[in-house]
Amino acid sequence: MSIIETKKLNYYYQDGDMQRYILRDVSVSFEKGRFYTIVGESGSGKTTFLSMIAGLDVAKEGQVLFESTDIQTIGLENYRRNKISIVFQNNNLVPYLTAAENVLVTMDITDNVLPADQKAVAYNLLDYIGITREKADRLVSELSGGEQQRIAIARALATNSDVILADEPTGNLDEEREREIIEIFKRLAHENDKAVIVVTHSQEVAEKSDVTYRLKKGNLINE
Ligand SMILES: Nc1ncnc2c1ncn2[C@@H]1O[C@H](COP(=O)(O)OP(=O)(O)O)[C@@H](O)[C@H]1O
Ligand SMILES: [Mg+2]
Repeated sequence: MSIIETKKLNYYYQDGDMQRYILRDVSVSFEKGRFYTIVGESGSGKTTFLSMIAGLDVAKEGQVLFESTDIQTIGLENYRRNKISIVFQNNNLVPYLTAAENVLVTMDITDNVLPADQKAVAYNLLDYIGITREKADRLVSELSGGEQQRIAIARALATNSDVILADEPTGNLDEEREREIIEIFKRLAHENDKAVIVVTHSQEVAEKSDVTYRLKKGNLINE
């Protein structure tokens, strides 16, 4: 059964009298336990598509379903807080907080982790993605780019949701760091049964994923 499904999503920008279509009748479904990538040239609509399934923006026509319920019915804010996790390219961490504090901040806004458990869960998540206890207590501004991106993933996991969305998560990393992040995404899909959906420029990331879709002229094509 699919966890996220889109039905004929259409998105366009008004350009004078013209409607410039970014997504055309995009219908696709995503399942738990799989690592998906979405590729396409710059400007092909990858971020736009991710914004729709993340509930950050709303399509002009069509629906996004989560476990067969329209995310508008779930409520977009509730959906974003409790049903999905997002990893951004520039990680969006708070530089003057430690790694552990960055993860804890996210737990404050989700309803999925009991307050009493939060600290232990935060250190466990950081340990899971390879951040030692010692590094977990350092300011993120003192850590490397690769470590920061792993902390961003740990923070995304703090909502304990079944869906991980990421927009160019390895865009600023070298090949070695990119490989580490790919391994984490594979593990989250295959061992933790999450649906992992990653928008990427990287052929390497696409090759390591289970299913790749390409956005071209507004259409989403299975590769
Ligand atoms: N606010 C906007 N107004 C008009 N066009 C936009 C706006 N935001 C993005 N676009 C255009 O929509 C297209 C898709 O953008 P985007 O989803 O960011 O692509 P990608 O992430 O694949 O690079 C691009 O051509 C971009 O210039
Ligand atoms: Mg983009």
